Amino acid sequence: MKKILKDINVKGKKVLVRVDYNVPLDSNLEITNDKRIVATIPTIQYLLKENAAIILIAHLGRPKGKVVSEMSLKPISLRLSELLRLPVKFVSGDCISPESKKAAATLKSGEILLLENLRFHPEEEGKNASGEKDKVAMDAFAKELASMGEVFVQDAFGTVHRSHASTAGIVKYVKDAAAGFLVEKELKFLGESLEKPVKTFLSILGGAKVSDKINVIENLLNKVDVIIIGGAMAYTFLKSQGVNTGTSLVENDKLDLANELLKEAKEKKVEFLLPIDHIIINKVDFVNKQIPKDSEVKTTIDEVIPEGFMGVDVGPKSIEKFSKVVKSAKTIVWNGPLGIFEIDEFSKGTVEIAKLVAEATENGAISVVGGGDSVAAVKKAGVDKRISHISTGGGASLEFLEGKELPGIAALPDKK
Ligand code: 3PG
Repeated sequence: MKKILKDINVKGKKVLVRVDYNVPLDSNLEITNDKRIVATIPTIQYLLKENAAIILIAHLGRPKGKVVSEMSLKPISLRLSELLRLPVKFVSGDCISPESKKAAATLKSGEILLLENLRFHPEEEGKNASGEKDKVAMDAFAKELASMGEVFVQDAFGTVHRSHASTAGIVKYVKDAAAGFLVEKELKFLGESLEKPVKTFLSILGGAKVSDKINVIENLLNKVDVIIIGGAMAYTFLKSQGVNTGTSLVENDKLDLANELLKEAKEKKVEFLLPIDHIIINKVDFVNKQIPKDSEVKTTIDEVIPEGFMGVDVGPKSIEKFSKVVKSAKTIVWNGPLGIFEIDEFSKGTVEIAKLVAEATENGAISVVGGGDSVAAVKKAGVDKRISHISTGGGASLEFLEGKELPGIAALPDKK
């Protein structure tokens, strides 16, 4: 067990908090979704109560070690200030500049400072100024960051799968470190659903590619009772069983693997449910996410997709079949949409399943949804408040489901 915030003494201390403020911004640099900012508020409020001086460290986007003004954290400092109704200090330019260091050094108890985008420094991601891998430079950067505070709190769940200076490297240079409330909550929900699931344990996996989810499927086959597969991934599985999939997105180099996974599921007595009918179309404008006027949309009568057509969503019979499983599940882990849910006409499968997961949750199931697209899908279905836990980590929650070690968690000290 890793140390959590309440295990360490933060009273009156200067506390460095790694947060994930990698939020979407529009072309006017307006934040379009502040969920990740909101999610850090419990940790910040606790630290304020403890009279800590709070130094928030974060990244935004992938500036590749260069200063990119559109990726400044300034708009985030403003939103955080609005949310907390408190001033949030911000120093533009460079997170370890003399100005930033001075702001950190003079920060008083109960004050909050957000440092500029860590990724403006290549060292954050383990590189030097020439862009080469450089562990020494990364360590030196981690040490400099650490010198600005006394203790470290890891609350950036969305970034704990990265082995970066501010996620893992920093820990050895501070007096004490712990997981913040957000990370604690994420680990509790994701961890308990995988390690102590109440049966029936169902996993719903969607998305475009089997290749993105191979490790997740392999890990989950040792844990779940039922897997529902949707999204374009399903067509690769169906084709591996000799089913015609028309022009659907199929990873032809993963057909053998899909076949193996299905065999493994059978051996492990995991029920592996694929769609039994589909919504299909003969052409889609993927760029503009639109249905061309001269295209034809149909529903198949079974799992076979005719030539010239591609699957874009699960059909009504599949929803009916999946709904029985969702209703009887007591633990549900969901990652990835079941169709092209960004196009309204093809979002029905995902939206219906989202509603069923919400109902199952109200009837006592624990539901955990992770991955940017599935989170957007539960929002689109209007049921995001009715899910037990929506993860703030896309890649991080996926790596957790794969059973991988997360460097930002591994680096934290264990409870005594
Ligand atoms: C995310 O948005 O998934 C995290 O902030 C990590 O960002 P990254 O994929 O650029 O490392």
